[in-house]
Amino acid sequence: MLDRGRGALVLVSSLSGLLPVAPRAATYAATKAFLASLGRSLHVEVAGTGVQVMVLCPGFTRTGFQEASDWDQRRVPTLLWTSTPQVVDRALRDLERGRVVSIPGLPNRVLATAARVMPAGLTRAVTGRVMRRYA
Ligand SMILES: NC(=O)c1ccc[n+]([C@@H]2O[C@H](COP(=O)([O-])OP(=O)(O)OC[C@H]3O[C@@H](n4cnc5c(N)ncnc54)[C@H](OP(=O)(O)O)[C@@H]3O)[C@@H](O)[C@H]2O)c1
Repeated sequence: MLDRGRGALVLVSSLSGLLPVAPRAATYAATKAFLASLGRSLHVEVAGTGVQVMVLCPGFTRTGFQEASDWDQRRVPTLLWTSTPQVVDRALRDLERGRVVSIPGLPNRVLATAARVMPAGLTRAVTGRVMRRYA
């Protein structure tokens, strides 16, 4: 891509990768946090080369994931679910805009912002409660 001077790399992370803690999803969220960090750094590294790197951070999205994972997500509020077309549309739009992180779904963007600006202790407490309830 760098030799050609064009291309795009979308790293599929997760909203959980942007949270400071994710009890009951510790390993999963840690791998997603790795991707988020990797993508953000690569985005800066390739700036101006014609190659784009973006981190995609979907929240709960109805796919085969629910059957494959052992999380019981039936109690997750409807408001927090996104569809796959919604995720893909938002990702492509954000890629066009040159965004570094794409978070499909307004509720998910609000959650990600809250996790960033709230005091760390409060975020830990809230996230702990939510994950105990829904994960
Ligand atoms: N769904 C959500 O709520 C959600 C939220 C945040 C992030 N994500 C992320 O989105 C990504 C896609 O997940 P999804 O929701 O689309 O789940 P999915 O429907 O279960 O799809 C997972 C895909 O990964 C493929 N796969 C699994 N193990 C593989 C392996 N070892 N080598 C090559 N391919 C493999 C599967 O192929 P086969 O069908 O051939 O097994 C399948 O196509 C994942 O990285 C997930 O962490 C999902």
